[in-house]
Amino acid sequence: MSMLEDRVANRRTFAIIAHPDAGKTTLTEKLLLFGGAIQLAGAVKTRGEQRRARSDWMKVERERGISVASSVMTFDYKGRTFNLLDTPGHEDFSEDTYRTLTAVDSAVMVLDGAKGIETQTRKLFEVCRLRDMPIATFINKFDREALDPFELLDDIEQTLALDVVPASWPIGMGRNFLGCYDLFRDQLVLVSKDKNNHLDEGIVCQGVEDPKIDELLPESYAAKLREDVEMIRELCPAFDLQAFLDGTMTPVYFGSAVNNFGVETLLEGLTTMAPPPRSAPSATREILPNETKVAGFIFKIQANMDPKHRDRIAFMRLVSGHFKRGAKLKHVRSAKTINVHNPVLFLAQDRELAEEAWPGDIIGIPNHGNLRIGDALTEGEDIRFTGIPSFAPELLQKVRPIDPMRAKHLGRALIQIAEEGAARTFKTRMGSDWVVGVVGALQFEVLADRIRTEYDIPVNFEQTELYTARWVEADDHNDLKKFVDANQASLAEDHDDSPVFLARNSWHLERAEKDWPAIRFLKTKEQL
Ligand code: G4P
Repeated sequence: MSMLEDRVANRRTFAIIAHPDAGKTTLTEKLLLFGGAIQLAGAVKTRGEQRRARSDWMKVERERGISVASSVMTFDYKGRTFNLLDTPGHEDFSEDTYRTLTAVDSAVMVLDGAKGIETQTRKLFEVCRLRDMPIATFINKFDREALDPFELLDDIEQTLALDVVPASWPIGMGRNFLGCYDLFRDQLVLVSKDKNNHLDEGIVCQGVEDPKIDELLPESYAAKLREDVEMIRELCPAFDLQAFLDGTMTPVYFGSAVNNFGVETLLEGLTTMAPPPRSAPSATREILPNETKVAGFIFKIQANMDPKHRDRIAFMRLVSGHFKRGAKLKHVRSAKTINVHNPVLFLAQDRELAEEAWPGDIIGIPNHGNLRIGDALTEGEDIRFTGIPSFAPELLQKVRPIDPMRAKHLGRALIQIAEEGAARTFKTRMGSDWVVGVVGALQFEVLADRIRTEYDIPVNFEQTELYTARWVEADDHNDLKKFVDANQASLAEDHDDSPVFLARNSWHLERAEKDWPAIRFLKTKEQL
């Protein structure tokens, strides 16, 4: 096996999807703790606090108790290198989350044991399903009163139309939560009295009939466990690794992240079952991770991580090859060569220079706006990666600087924000107004705050009568020109100067579609 093949085989890149409050942050922290990436539980939150204290615009995040920014955390466990990509949970930031999911190979779905599948879990799951992504389920908070575990399994199966197989089984719940039986490894794992941050230790059993269980559990709990396991064997299919890898079956773990319980069992499961980096589709061919030439795609841009330095970090998922610092890569969209001399690797608490990276790894590339979402960097080949979603702006508002003298600066800030992928910005043909299109309403607040703190331009967002935006295209340039000339009042340009039709209502859009059959009205613009 070459070093490249070896590294690929040992990489696991995944994300945690959850409805807010289910315990994603807590689980992340425990995974990092066991992976040795952080020393103390609480560090992830502390880091959040520090960052919030540093940058003002995160105020919105603090107020709403949501996580706006997402990042990458790398840790090692039992010979594997895990890259955990954080995703914001709030639904208004789903765009970012969706794109992040294009950069992972598997996901852990965290549920609150008292709630089961919630709206956001479901939406995120649907995105994973589009890509047939393998998903392991962690049902959290069993130290509290939870729903009956069979009911929870049924909820996942019915709501998500997914085969479920318990990987572990809870013994009691709430104050009487004694532990879990690890069904894959035949081990009894008991909740330890001291809450030190150590791994759960399982007691190996010869199946649930093992008399050891009678010694370790009160009689009624042992009986209930045996009864439950018998029911599981009757009701649930056997675990099928291929079905998990195809995204049609999920192994289900139970635990209590805040008490470190069940986390080791989950991590062990990921270590043995989660898939290594997959190949990536492109317009011309499938790019395989073991190819020796470096190729990667940008799935996220984060601007002004440090407001003092107007830096932007483009997050690149490495698809193939062994990347080394200083590599000269072709930026396919512009056909220019980029010297990646200061790539950033993200560790739990720090950023540091990445000397090298392997397929499945995420590196941050500082840049001044030349890198955009969907861009490919290669060792020369003209690859255009496909499947990176772009979203139709569903809400449109006008934005004006409070000081009219700052209009030009505002334009520049909006273009930067649009390039980053945080919002769509359109400049109307008539009146030269700036219209901003977003997917979730909260994005307006975040944008206003960002424009004020990062660009020093206080702005107001104003409601508009606009209903939706459509990018317009035609095979024949003359058709497009005719349309554009006849519809000046409803036309705008996006940050790339592509023409966009702003419809006042659904009737207006339907009418235009009927009257101009040669024009294509596109909900999204393909990320080039
Ligand atoms: P999120 O990132 O998915 O939004 O959830 P997060 O981990 O922040 O957890 C949400 C709340 O649930 C937190 O409580 C957290 O302590 C609690 N929690 C997480 N895992 C468990 C668990 O296994 N059992 C119980 N009982 N609670 C759990 P909080 O009061 O909002 O915050 P904090 O003051 O505890 O930090």
